[in-house]
Amino acid sequence: MSLLSVKDLSYVYSQGTPFEHKAVDNVSFEVERGDFIGIIGHTGSGKSTLVQMLNGLLKPSDGAIMLDGVNIWDKPKEIRRIRFKVGLVFQYPEYQLFEETVEKDIAFGPGNMGLNEDEIKQRVLSAAKFVDLKEELLPKSPFDLSGGEKRRAAIAGVIAMDPDILILDEPCAGLDP
Ligand SMILES: Nc1ncnc2c1ncn2[C@@H]1O[C@H](COP(=O)(O)OP(=O)(O)OP(=O)(O)O)[C@@H](O)[C@H]1O
Ligand SMILES: [Mg+2]
Repeated sequence: MSLLSVKDLSYVYSQGTPFEHKAVDNVSFEVERGDFIGIIGHTGSGKSTLVQMLNGLLKPSDGAIMLDGVNIWDKPKEIRRIRFKVGLVFQYPEYQLFEETVEKDIAFGPGNMGLNEDEIKQRVLSAAKFVDLKEELLPKSPFDLSGGEKRRAAIAGVIAMDPDILILDEPCAGLDP
């Protein structure tokens, strides 16, 4: 059984209105544990829409997403748990920073998972190290970081949740090689 199985997935924005737009049209693919996959497509071809369905942020107009053999929309009330398993770093993650300090921002996801203080602290430090964010930046306000540092902080916040699947939507734009 595949870790992630996407079947006949479609997404229509503003369905039933004059602005109706089919952004994802009948997409299917499988992801095995350990796979490293790139999605390439033109501007506006539906990449961001597709990945937002994979972690349950957008609900498909048609088709199914199976995670470990279970349809992620089987229990809509538990969709939040899918977001801990499928970590998504948005195309402009730095817009999502909102806490007083960088440390609190990175700790936000793990905090929602109900982990204890020590575990959270440890995850924040290792995630910051993973994205090469200097430890002295942790007590600073996220708004006082450079563009690239903000992006690193936002990526660290998702890494700190230690998701089974990590999705990065154009994560390197504006960062050094
Ligand atoms: N909230 C929305 N409401 C209506 N249409 C939308 C919305 N978001 C995206 N679209 C449209 O859906 C299509 C796919 O957009 P999407 O952001 O998924 O593309 P993308 O492949 O990620 O593009 P890019 O490479 O520019 O990031 C585009 O035509 C876009 O105009
Ligand atoms: Mg996009």
